[in-house]
Amino acid sequence: MMTELFFNGDEHRLMAFIAEQQYNQIILLADTNTNGHCIPLLRNLLPRLMNSNRIVIPSGEQNKTLDVSCLIWNELNRLNAGRSSLLINIGGGMVSDIGGFAASVFKRGMDFINIPTTLLSMTDACYGGKTGIDFNGLKNNLGTFQEPLAIYIHPIFLQTVPDRILKSGLAESVKHALLTSHDQFRYYCQAPFADLISVDAIRNSIAVKMSIVTKDPKDQNLRQTLNLGHTIGHAIESYFLQTNTPLLHGEAVLLGLKHEIKLSEGIFGLSETVLNELMIFKEKHFAELKVSYSYSDIRDFLLHDKKNKTGIRMSLLKNPGDCEIQVLVQDHQVMETFTI
Ligand SMILES: NC(=O)c1ccc[n+]([C@@H]2O[C@H](COP(=O)([O-])OP(=O)(O)OC[C@H]3O[C@@H](n4cnc5c(N)ncnc54)[C@H](O)[C@@H]3O)[C@@H](O)[C@H]2O)c1
Repeated sequence: MMTELFFNGDEHRLMAFIAEQQYNQIILLADTNTNGHCIPLLRNLLPRLMNSNRIVIPSGEQNKTLDVSCLIWNELNRLNAGRSSLLINIGGGMVSDIGGFAASVFKRGMDFINIPTTLLSMTDACYGGKTGIDFNGLKNNLGTFQEPLAIYIHPIFLQTVPDRILKSGLAESVKHALLTSHDQFRYYCQAPFADLISVDAIRNSIAVKMSIVTKDPKDQNLRQTLNLGHTIGHAIESYFLQTNTPLLHGEAVLLGLKHEIKLSEGIFGLSETVLNELMIFKEKHFAELKVSYSYSDIRDFLLHDKKNKTGIRMSLLKNPGDCEIQVLVQDHQVMETFTI
C-alpha cells in the first residue's frame, strides 16, 4: 500500500480521501503537548474531525513504552474501535512510532494516518512504515513495518514547538543532505535557519527518504543508508535515556553523525572537510548541546545484540551521496572517534 502524502492546502482532498474509506469511526491520538497545541489547530483545518474521540498519552521518549501501548489498546477497546476504524496520530515521532505500532497490531491491524507536528517527524519519522517502542532499555526494540495510510504535513504546527526540539529536527535533514550530494550538504550547512524549516525544505528532505524507502521498504539493503549516524547515535541516546538528562533523538543522531563521519575518514578516506562543515553546522544550530560521555558509557548499548563483540556493522560514507552499508568496524576504531 502506498502512503498518500498531503500538504497544507490539500485539506479538502485529504478529507475526501478519508471519506472514501468509509470508516465507522475516527480516533485522534495525541500526547499531552500536541493535545493542547495542535488539536485546536487541526480542528480549524479539518472541522469534520471536531467530534472525533481522542486518546491522550504522556509525552516524551520515556513514554514510548509497552505500558503506554497498553493504555492505547485499552482505550481503543473502550471506544469499540475495530479494523474499520481509523487512528490519526498527531504529534512528533514518538506519537507516530507508538501510535503506528499500537494500530498495526490492534485487531491484527487498523489503518492510521500520521500528522507530524515536529520538524523531525515531518522530514523523517512520519514516513517509511517503521513503527516501534523502546523495550528493555533499548531503542525501538519492539516494532512492526506498517505504512501509514496517509500523511498530512502543515508547517503551522511548528509554531509552538520549543526551540531545542525544533532544531533537533535538523539532524535527520542534514543526514538526508549528506546522502544526496556534497552540494546539497553544503547548502544545508550554510542556509539560514528559516530556509531549513520552510515547506520546500521539508518537501525536499522527505523526498530523499521516500526515494530510498520505495526501493527497499523492508530495510534489506539501500534503506540501511538511512541509518547513517544512527548506530552510534542510538547507543548515545539509549545511554542518556538512563540518566537525568536525556537527549532528544535528533541531538543523539547529530552526535552519532560526528563519530560515524570520523570513522568514514579513517575507513574510506572521506574528505576531512565534511566533518569540519558538520561541526560548523553543529555550532550554528546546536551550540547548547554540550554533553560529556565516554566510549565505555555507550559500548554495551552499541554491542548489545551483536555476536561479534570485537566489531560492529554500520553505514558509512565514501563521499557525500555515496554511502556504503554493513561496513564492519572494529571496536578500537569506534573508540578512537571518542577523542574528537
Ligand atoms: N519511525 C521512523 O522512521 C523514525 C525516524 C526518526 C525518528 N523516529 C523516532 O521519532 C522520535 C523523535 O521524534 P521527535 O523529535 O518528533 O520527538 P517527540 O515526538 O518526542 O516530540 C518532542 C517533544 O515535542 C512535543 N511536541 C510535539 N509537537 C509539538 C508542537 N507542535 N508544539 C509543542 N510541542 C510539541 C512533544 O510533546 C514532545 O514533548 C524518536 O522516538 C525516534 O526514535 C522514528
